[in-house]
Amino acid sequence: MSIAQNTETAAKLRCIACGATPDSASQDFRCTACGDLLEFFFPGRSFDPTSLKALWLNRRTSRHALDQSGVWRFRELLPHIPNLEEHAITLREGNTPLYRLPRCARAAGVENLHAKHQGMNPTASFKDTGMTFAASSAHQSGFRWVACASTGNTSASMAAYAARGNMHSLVLIPEGKISWGKLSQSLDYGALTCQLRTDFDGCVQILNDLVRQKPVYLLNSVNPYRIEGQKTAAIELMEQLAWEPPDHIIVPGGNLGNSSAIGKALLEMRELKLISRLPRLSIIQAHGANPFYRSVREFGGRKLEPMTADTLATAIRIGNPASWKKALRVLQATGGEVEEVSEIEIAAAKAEIGADGIGCEPASAVTLAGLKKLRQSGFVKPGEAVVLILTGHALKDPDFTIKFHRGELFADKPVAGTPEETEAAQAKYLQRAPVVLDANLGAVIAALDAADRNS
Ligand code: F0G
Repeated sequence: MSIAQNTETAAKLRCIACGATPDSASQDFRCTACGDLLEFFFPGRSFDPTSLKALWLNRRTSRHALDQSGVWRFRELLPHIPNLEEHAITLREGNTPLYRLPRCARAAGVENLHAKHQGMNPTASFKDTGMTFAASSAHQSGFRWVACASTGNTSASMAAYAARGNMHSLVLIPEGKISWGKLSQSLDYGALTCQLRTDFDGCVQILNDLVRQKPVYLLNSVNPYRIEGQKTAAIELMEQLAWEPPDHIIVPGGNLGNSSAIGKALLEMRELKLISRLPRLSIIQAHGANPFYRSVREFGGRKLEPMTADTLATAIRIGNPASWKKALRVLQATGGEVEEVSEIEIAAAKAEIGADGIGCEPASAVTLAGLKKLRQSGFVKPGEAVVLILTGHALKDPDFTIKFHRGELFADKPVAGTPEETEAAQAKYLQRAPVVLDANLGAVIAALDAADRNS
């Protein structure tokens, strides 16, 4: 089955490498001429920016399901899906809060720091914004089965949207390397969940072969509909900031679909004069899963060497990111930077975001850890406005959080005199292990008094 492209509007598919403009995408969403990724573009599109902003704002008061979604509310900037009312699958995704982070701002040495919390989506990660759009497209194309390879969040999201749209879903996840929270979601939403004895990159390979043989619709972020839906996080962010762009937006980098989507939205918004200048979009990876960081720093983005990835931030445990060329393009177009952060830096940053009363999953916390490094290097200045994109909810991976606070996260003690030892000592201040007490008032009062003295 090929995926029909709508002919009613201006949206067209284009290969990011050879520029071919196919009428429809094949099932692996790769260019049939050169094998690279496809993207949507909108030739000749123009809007009156003031009217468009007013229309979107007005929809906030609507009772219509599509208007209540923080994705479909911005549908003018997305490709048109024919018979949308019949095919749209929405859980009222998007509409995520923008929070000030005062404590994290002090820790990072900036005055104006916000977090856009994409973990406040229906399945508790940013994936829902792309999934509502791509799952609706699968429905419109008549597929019975949808499928993805995942580190856990894409699968949770896909399983939910497939269930809502009465489609079957097939999940391929690396055995033992995703959090229980995420695994439990895909079970509850009724997916056929296969834990493969490989890593994420191995799951992707098998899925790519599968979609060439079976009529299943691929819902990984190589699917350009996913990217289009995920653009709306940036549009919503600009609306929340009264269309006054921050100086920096910082995102985690795994398979690099999210950074590509946010960057694409920024470039489109500037072209359409919805914003007057571009924020710099920076991408942070875990040191143990840093192929993009190395590509940019070591090879100037000329090539990407896949690696065997390893990090406790399992969501971004990815060694061969599919969308690296798209991410490179937006990094360069916005003048952003890449950084890598250590496991201890990630854990400390996560606890700091938690201490601001917000919380997030480990992969999201690379943003704050990365911001600290970008401050140290001088790339981010103290007076500049910064927005972190938090991608997943704190309850996605409670195991990580509990182990951190109990001091059990890192099995090996850092070597004395190394930077890791200093980082571990700093992280210790953030640890709040639970206290087990006898069930009597005196013991609780003693614990309270001790904590009060130390606070
Ligand atoms: N943060 C979280 C919480 C994620 O789940 C992911 C990716 C990322 C960041 C990285 O985003 O891949 O677009 O660069 N999770 C995917 C998944 C791979 O299968 O859930 P990216």
